[in-house]
Amino acid sequence: MCGIIGYTGNQGNVLDVLMTGLSGLEYRGYDSAGIAVSNSSLTVRKREGEVSALEAAVPDGDLDGLAGIGHTRWSTHGPPSDANAHPHTDADSTVAVVHNGIIENYQKLRRALEADGYEFTSETDTEVIPHLIRSALDSGAGREEAFRQAVQHLEGSYAVAAVFDGSETVYAARNESPLVLGIGDDGHYLASDVPAFIEFTDQVVYLEDGQFARVNPSGIVVTDEQGAVVETAVETIEWDPEDAGKSGYDHYMLKEIHEQPTAIRKCLRERVNELEGTVTVEELADLECDGPVQFVACGTSYHAALYGAKMLQERGIPAQCFLASEYDVGKIPITEETLVVGVTQSGETADTMSALRAANRVGATTLALTNVVGSSAARECDHVMYIRAGPEIGVAATKTFASQQVALAMLSSVLSEESSMEFVKRLRDLPDQIQKVLDEANAREVAEEYDGSDAYFFIGRGYNAPVALEGALKMKEISYEHAEGFAAGELKHGPLALVTDQTPVFAMLAGDSNLSKTLGNVKEVEARDAPVVAVTDSPEEVGQFADHVLEVPDAGPRFTPILANIQLQLVSYWVANQMGRSIDKPRNLAKSVTVE
Ligand code: F6R
Repeated sequence: MCGIIGYTGNQGNVLDVLMTGLSGLEYRGYDSAGIAVSNSSLTVRKREGEVSALEAAVPDGDLDGLAGIGHTRWSTHGPPSDANAHPHTDADSTVAVVHNGIIENYQKLRRALEADGYEFTSETDTEVIPHLIRSALDSGAGREEAFRQAVQHLEGSYAVAAVFDGSETVYAARNESPLVLGIGDDGHYLASDVPAFIEFTDQVVYLEDGQFARVNPSGIVVTDEQGAVVETAVETIEWDPEDAGKSGYDHYMLKEIHEQPTAIRKCLRERVNELEGTVTVEELADLECDGPVQFVACGTSYHAALYGAKMLQERGIPAQCFLASEYDVGKIPITEETLVVGVTQSGETADTMSALRAANRVGATTLALTNVVGSSAARECDHVMYIRAGPEIGVAATKTFASQQVALAMLSSVLSEESSMEFVKRLRDLPDQIQKVLDEANAREVAEEYDGSDAYFFIGRGYNAPVALEGALKMKEISYEHAEGFAAGELKHGPLALVTDQTPVFAMLAGDSNLSKTLGNVKEVEARDAPVVAVTDSPEEVGQFADHVLEVPDAGPRFTPILANIQLQLVSYWVANQMGRSIDKPRNLAKSVTVE
């Protein structure tokens, strides 16, 4: 939520670098965007709307300078507007600031600054920062010291960057919001995430909470809260810049759906041994777990966690799932034996981070299952397992969900110390089976058939139940249509009242070990005239009860639902596409939600 970029150096035009950065960060928020470029004075341009609106407002060649910062916004304080867009400045534009996070004490700070005569022009929490810097400058502090003093007043979460007039230095600081520095041949970068500058460099330094950075064309200096210089490790990002592009697909989401075979191959690489039938996750070599497992996660990742919990339960390990925002360590039995697993693609979701931090505080063992190397979850948990899905830009999670499911399957094997030739072969077969679904999918026809429905329902049992929830979430977030997912058996306990001939029901009958029971539920909706779309590996058995069949290969009870989900992703995509929705950037959403 919100993306920030900063640049200083000789990599062509500052403006081009900032705009490239903002395009790479737009998945983090897209209700307004802005830049500030420092030359002899500061020039600020900002616009409500997507980065393209800002681009139109800044003609080529309009701006060049020594250094600059940029921001793409997902509103928290104050609605989207030109005035609320970042950067924010002090009254005479000595300093410009961009910020991602929430300043919890901003009202108190704002009242004090207003009482001292500083005038605010926006409703944002962020605007206190340039006025705090100005106030420190007015009291005689130098620029770097003024920035440091301002940040020290802030309570809450922030990744913040500032640039001053006539200066080629960008100052930055972080607390509980991501910030990564990029070291290039022709300049230095800072950003909320690597896609902002991967085109220019793959050498990065992750800033830690409480650290400050001074970024110049000649180098980067990182300091701690007291101002002492900190040694930093430079890491190499192992993506191809192409990974972050659309590769000819109309949308990132469609590209990422098609990347699932590759993502799963990467997730499995060197972790499964088909000859021996074993699963070994090197990162987890030191993980000991004798107690119960608690999963904490949000949204799609929560659905993956539900799927993972079932897998652990089946192997005899007590496992519970919590929505991270509802995880209250004071009220939940949790001991030092408890393993708390945060399932989080971004590794930055505030609700999940808050749950993991609470678990750390009470002494539980924590494990991050994440996609993002160096993310807060990866750094703060006792253990980390990477899902290796590669960058996911589309706001709706697709390939990361499949990778989470596969990683959780491997985790279940590691924790239970159980594996088998069949289990490993099933995992190894998945990429080809996903490819088959992608090659043969008739999801588009089904999407066209049910265009304009009143609502879309999704039902499934066992491992199919979380997939039903995920199918509905995907449909609602990108098509903006009413969609609900239910455990198939629950339908008759209330939701059946919603079912009509205008509400297609997608029935997950994929590797279903209780097929006859789920078919009973299908008959219940059929009797109410609802069209039925069966997503199944048993077309002969279930075809007669369905209006349409979306077929998937047989991958066994645990894994066939992963294949069924690919069909649902495609149906949602094509429904949203027909409706002309903003598929990669659905309204009101952002990819990485860093507020609670
Ligand atoms: C939906 C989606 C969200 C995320 C949720 C958690 O498509 O992407 O529901 O799953 O915001 O995000 P992470 O996994 O980054 O913690």
